[in-house]
Amino acid sequence: MRSGWLAVASFMALAAGTAIAQDAGGAHPDRWPRLAAAAPGAAIEARIDMLIAAMSLEQKVGQIVQGDIGSTTPEDVATYHLGSILNGGSSSPGGDEFGPASVWVAAADAYYDASMRPNGKLPRIPVMWGSDAVHGHNNIVGATLFPHNIGLGAARNPALMEKIGQVTAIEMRVTGLDWTFAPTIAVARDDRWGRTYESFGEDPAIATSYAAALVHGIQGRRGDKDWLKGPHIIATAKHFLADGGTADGRDRGDATIAEAELIRLHAPAYVAALEADVQSVMASFSGWNGVKMHGNASLLTGVLKQRWGFDGLVVGDWDGHAKVPGCTPTDCPASIAAGLDLYMGPASWKGLYASTLAAAQSGTLPMARLDDAVRRILRVKLRAGLFEAGKPSTREYAGRYELLGAPGHRAVARQAVQESLVLLKNNGVLPLKAGAHILVAGDGADNVAKQSGGWTLTWQGTGTKPEHFPGATSIFAGVRDAVKAGGGTAELSINGRFTTRPDAAIVVFGEDPYAEFQGDRADLYFDDTRGSLDIMRRLKAAGIPVVAVFLSGRPLWVNRHINAADAFVAAWLPGSEGGGVADALFGKADFKGKLPFSWPADAKGVPLNVGDADYKSLYPFGYGLKLADRSPVPPLSEDPGIIVEQPLTGPIFARGRPDGTRLLQIDGANDSPQAISGAADNGAIAVRPVDRDAQEDAREISWSGKSRGTLIVSNPRAADLSAAGPLALALDLRVDQAPTAPAMLEIRCGPGCTARLDIADRLAAIAGKGWQSVSIPLSCLTGTKLDHITAPFALSSSAPLRLTLSSIALTPTKETSCR
Ligand code: BGC
Ligand code: BGC
Repeated sequence: MRSGWLAVASFMALAAGTAIAQDAGGAHPDRWPRLAAAAPGAAIEARIDMLIAAMSLEQKVGQIVQGDIGSTTPEDVATYHLGSILNGGSSSPGGDEFGPASVWVAAADAYYDASMRPNGKLPRIPVMWGSDAVHGHNNIVGATLFPHNIGLGAARNPALMEKIGQVTAIEMRVTGLDWTFAPTIAVARDDRWGRTYESFGEDPAIATSYAAALVHGIQGRRGDKDWLKGPHIIATAKHFLADGGTADGRDRGDATIAEAELIRLHAPAYVAALEADVQSVMASFSGWNGVKMHGNASLLTGVLKQRWGFDGLVVGDWDGHAKVPGCTPTDCPASIAAGLDLYMGPASWKGLYASTLAAAQSGTLPMARLDDAVRRILRVKLRAGLFEAGKPSTREYAGRYELLGAPGHRAVARQAVQESLVLLKNNGVLPLKAGAHILVAGDGADNVAKQSGGWTLTWQGTGTKPEHFPGATSIFAGVRDAVKAGGGTAELSINGRFTTRPDAAIVVFGEDPYAEFQGDRADLYFDDTRGSLDIMRRLKAAGIPVVAVFLSGRPLWVNRHINAADAFVAAWLPGSEGGGVADALFGKADFKGKLPFSWPADAKGVPLNVGDADYKSLYPFGYGLKLADRSPVPPLSEDPGIIVEQPLTGPIFARGRPDGTRLLQIDGANDSPQAISGAADNGAIAVRPVDRDAQEDAREISWSGKSRGTLIVSNPRAADLSAAGPLALALDLRVDQAPTAPAMLEIRCGPGCTARLDIADRLAAIAGKGWQSVSIPLSCLTGTKLDHITAPFALSSSAPLRLTLSSIALTPTKETSCR
């Protein structure tokens, strides 16, 4: 091992000048905890020796490159000897995210067959397929969807995690898959991070107590006959390291913290996962003190592999190597030198293959390091029995579709839902009586997509329809079943208007689905875009007891909603078994959940974590009432505090989404803008996420011409731009289809206040010319009340028009021309 490390170090010295500078800010492995590593088995090592001796250089290189099935065919696997494939959150066999499970099995067979095709004397090495089964096998229609990790963290029940791991592994096996990119054992320290819901909690103790249970559930136990085989698959601990510790909670950002904090907060769950023999670890997109994890030799090699003796494989994250200095998506030997064993190169795999082959041929990539990476990958495959397992469809659980969402599996998920609920307030209305007449309101009431969040059939969890969730139970359906059994009745009314006066109302509301950076926020103010506060206040005014069920991927400032409700339940993102919510509301089981994250007293979004020196929360970490706790609470302050104000200038739309707390809305001719997150179409205007430089970092907007349609970026709170000096709206866009009628750029400044400018000529002038930057001084939009901007950008057209927007910003300008 020691000599391997020296080889890496000297390779870095020779080959990658940039990597040396990075290593300078590296970790000190001797300061990290020790771990008793299990020795690799001699029989397997001997087989690996034979394989490596017989493999061609091309085969070795292929083993360390992984493509996404959206850009990789079985033929590619055969031609380039690719050792593994993945399906990212947006890719599915045949491109159909809602296709039947049988298509997955057939695809698994096709890739496997390609990898096993005879090729002269070369050894045949089975491909493996990785997938993000992060809350159940969430890419498959009809699979059991567990609560996202944040809810599981509230349950504080490691034994239940093992069952969840088992169920997830079996459902993966049904579809012929071998390997999940889970569990995420991130410790999220800033709830503005869009992946907070993928974290078990802000205190490392929860992730640490869960890591082993989940790994055992997914992989089985080392020494058992069915370790990594039969009902089990390969697990991944991700994202190494400190993905949840980035400054300002920025996704893919930098954890600017001391090594001691890294060890105290972010390392313990990995130690636990490694002790449970997790076979793969995913490198994080993020960096530590300016050094990207994909290039951090001191952590990937020094700590993980040497200090901790990890002998499994280190997989990269989605082109994460590309951000290592000197690297591109298609070329990055520095990352392998630092300790990555397997590039995740979704669409870049072909270039990576070529550059890695060249680096190996020229010696820039030392054979010893390449062989070690290959050895680790083969070791995992051999341990998992892939060489003997045969075609995916012939394996024990494959094709047993009745196991997807099987009643026993759903029962585990329902228990998890029930145990994940955190009761924050109860003035005595709970438990509800099952013999009563219950109104169920709010846009989350009968909405399995909303209760399931991101990483649900699609990457962002958007764009699904109710029929994509066969067998699932919405929260309303669970309530309906509960009252039916108890002799009562339930009425579903999203807007809270009722025909028969209810004995009590349940209002289900919260965040819309998001994933990764698209969920990053500037503060923790809950933007109530669907009017749930009004619904609650109206019901309360009518004397109807209100139970609020809040769906969210993190704690948010909802003091007004808590005040408007008689009972308030943080339900997180419960997944497909909404019946678990009714179990607790009607007292079939008591509340058990404890806050896995401190609930903030204001909306500022300043990091708040148990153990902080000046710890002031609304509800502390670990808080959670039982049904018997009925202390009346005084009303909470309705002052959100100084919210991180949107900077006056700068981006208002970037990375495919509105910046900060702004909303992206579309409107038809009827002047009732709808907030949208993923793809949307209201007949007049259609929006869909598209790629410019990164995944879904732009939006294509098409006006159908059927009626007037408007795209709006709105401020949740009116902004005062009057002191900002002369500004321009700077757009980065591509006009795909020129306008044939006025295209009105608008700035909105409150009721009855809209300033307009026809920019059809400008758009027509750049149509078909690719990406262009356009700057329009605000002074050209006369009549704007700059001190009360409710929407800094809107574009409306009644005629067909198509353009793709990658960014909109408010920038200082000296320009005055309006042409
Ligand atoms: C995410 C990972 C995920 C991978 C493959 C990345 O963008 O960060 O968590 O495993 O994509 O979908
Ligand atoms: C993929 C995800 C991935 C993301 C990264 C998406 O298109 O489907 O798996 O995490 O891109 O940007």
